[in-house]
Amino acid sequence: MARRKIIAGNWKMNMTPSEALALVETLKPLVNNDDVDVVYGVPAIDIVPVVEAVKGTNVKVAAENMYFEEKGAYTGEISPAMLVDAGVSYVILGHSERRGYFYETSEDINKKILKAFEHGLTPIMCCGESLEQREQGITMEWIRQQVKVGFQGVTADQAKTAVIAYEPIWAIGTGKTATADQAEEVCKGIRDCIAEMYDEATADAIRIQYGGSMKASNCKELLAKPDIDGGLIGGASLKAEFGEIVNYNK
Ligand code: PGA
Repeated sequence: MARRKIIAGNWKMNMTPSEALALVETLKPLVNNDDVDVVYGVPAIDIVPVVEAVKGTNVKVAAENMYFEEKGAYTGEISPAMLVDAGVSYVILGHSERRGYFYETSEDINKKILKAFEHGLTPIMCCGESLEQREQGITMEWIRQQVKVGFQGVTADQAKTAVIAYEPIWAIGTGKTATADQAEEVCKGIRDCIAEMYDEATADAIRIQYGGSMKASNCKELLAKPDIDGGLIGGASLKAEFGEIVNYNK
């Protein structure tokens, strides 16, 4: 089955609201590619202005996090309804920086994924191994666990629409990209895991991205792999280079 590629930027904690608007303007003429879904994952405070600025374009907006409760006394958190009302379509969940610096567990991420679906938001669930885990030879075991716990209680119909981003921690922001073969091996392993948990049709439909120092110079090779359906791009999403990645097939 031909899955539509999804190229998503993860701006992380970069871009003030006014800088965000300037970046959207810079990227506007560069990110037109009808063959792919284009997403900007932006800091919470940039969501409202960026949603407004991309109106009428092919770009959708993602939040970088979300809480799993509906509302109430959770100072500093953002609810799914707030994201939906603001015009957000996707939500990045379980990024390794959130797991690492903010102690999010796979159980927390599972609750967030279920909540996201309940509100019609598409989750982009991140998973990935540390260098130590790769050297120990437990990469696939670790990632299968992240996927299985993350997707507990998710129906096949929901899973079909979900996005999983495979992001080896040792490749994030380091300039060290996984080779296309290394990335493909794990993305295929994730798809096999989904087939075991659900069925072939679900595994065929779910989109799996690679993330970790993806840039204009290496995106073609990565995106040519059969199980890599897109990219989650940090550093290179903050500049004009992002347009080259979106247009990887031109
Ligand atoms: P990077 O980040 O492209 O800067 O390595 C990717 C990510 O963390 O999503």
